[in-house]
Amino acid sequence: MKRYVMAIDQGTTSTRAMLFDEESNVLGIAQRELENYYPQPGWVEQNANDIWATCAGVIFEVLAKCGVSAQQIAAIGITNQRETTVIWDRKTGQPIYFAIVWQSRQSDDYIQEMKRAGKESFIRKKTGLLLDPYFSASKIRWILDHVDGAQQRAEAGELCFGTIDSWLIWKLTQGKVHVSDVSNASRTMLMNLKTLQYDPELLKLWNIPAAMLPDIRATSEVYGVCDSGLFGVEIPIGAAVGDQQAALFGQTCFEAGSVKNTYGTGCFLLMNTRDQIISSKHGLITCVGWKLGQEVDYVLEGSVFVAGAAIQWLRDGLKIIADSAETQKCAESLSSSDGVYVVPAFTGLGAPYWKPQAKGAIFGLTRGTTQNHIIRATLESLAYQTYDVIEAMKQDAGVELCALQVDGGASRNDYLLQFQSDLLNCRVQRSLVSETTALGAAYLAGLAVGYWPDKETIKANYHVGAAFESKLDFKTRTKLLKGWKDCIHALLEK
Ligand code: G3P
Repeated sequence: MKRYVMAIDQGTTSTRAMLFDEESNVLGIAQRELENYYPQPGWVEQNANDIWATCAGVIFEVLAKCGVSAQQIAAIGITNQRETTVIWDRKTGQPIYFAIVWQSRQSDDYIQEMKRAGKESFIRKKTGLLLDPYFSASKIRWILDHVDGAQQRAEAGELCFGTIDSWLIWKLTQGKVHVSDVSNASRTMLMNLKTLQYDPELLKLWNIPAAMLPDIRATSEVYGVCDSGLFGVEIPIGAAVGDQQAALFGQTCFEAGSVKNTYGTGCFLLMNTRDQIISSKHGLITCVGWKLGQEVDYVLEGSVFVAGAAIQWLRDGLKIIADSAETQKCAESLSSSDGVYVVPAFTGLGAPYWKPQAKGAIFGLTRGTTQNHIIRATLESLAYQTYDVIEAMKQDAGVELCALQVDGGASRNDYLLQFQSDLLNCRVQRSLVSETTALGAAYLAGLAVGYWPDKETIKANYHVGAAFESKLDFKTRTKLLKGWKDCIHALLEK
């Protein structure tokens, strides 16, 4: 009986399940879209029960599609949108409020309060994170303050908090296991980066009861089994990992200094710094990549909030493209963007600027500007934002970048990758398997049950896809970058 590893990739806009074999081939994929709600400007919420329903749905669907039985699944690995916060009733398993999505700014008041109280460097030292509503702590606070009686119920141990990994493990084990892993916990703003445990001073500062928190575990270990009532057999759950760390693992960025960029809803750049906790001086954050056995890999991360979402805006908001793939042809129809820049700061500016109140803008419009200029400039904004983060990384880590590994939806766009390479003046390598996030989770789950023996075997199996080399001269690059920087400064000064 041939066996496979299943990865569940619970992302911001969809949930997917994938089956991988020992050679890392994808046997099949099932996907369901997930609805996002925007109850007020800047707020983003999801229905946690929908998240679970899509997850259960894709598991059944991928098994049926591939003609594989649940007995053939050696392990399940979960990878997820990070920071998104769910609080549920321990007895009934019902969420007490919608899931507050990582992009949501609704808890910004708490962040401003903490800033005014001068807590930023204290929090940063312990967690590696910047004070921003992006992370879970202020979202938990918001729910505990806005749902009647929630604080008291949390203190009495009646409520559970979880990021999406915890929520799904809870549902898959039918309430038997309440855990999270270090990579997800390091995004809550409650975990101490050195001890890898919740920090009592941080819990006190946020007034978050320890009783509601999941246990923090390694990234690759069997946390429990799926309840046999769900799939007929007890499938081991062998990994939980934040989606960006999963992509770093899936791209086999195991060496210090290796960097990946995922062009997803946002752009997420991660550099593996192995056992070094590098504290950024240039607007990046530090978190845990993974804990494998006793080994902990740390990462430097730069998160750009809007990347692929800007392409969606061209399609669904402006309606000037019907499909994201069209952007390549539109961009290539022009010989230059003629000084037009789009800064898609729709939900504020993330790394390395961190200005939650910033709004998006288009610069350089003239009478000759066409919709193709806007499309091209929007596509290029993904590369410019990536450039800014890489510059910060190089300064923090003191290393030059010789290649950037890329994945995610927009990495299929050759124009974007060529432009990225031109701006960075280094090679950009697309991963051969486009599903590196799911692959990373599958690898980590497979390692937990001996499906793959070790990281070295995984690395030996890994192949990169197309590579893009820089073709741009120094003068043009400098001019383009200066134009972009002027736009950013204009937004920062507003
Ligand atoms: O930190 C947020 C990130 O994990 C979301 O990822 O892939 O759902 O856009 P994605």
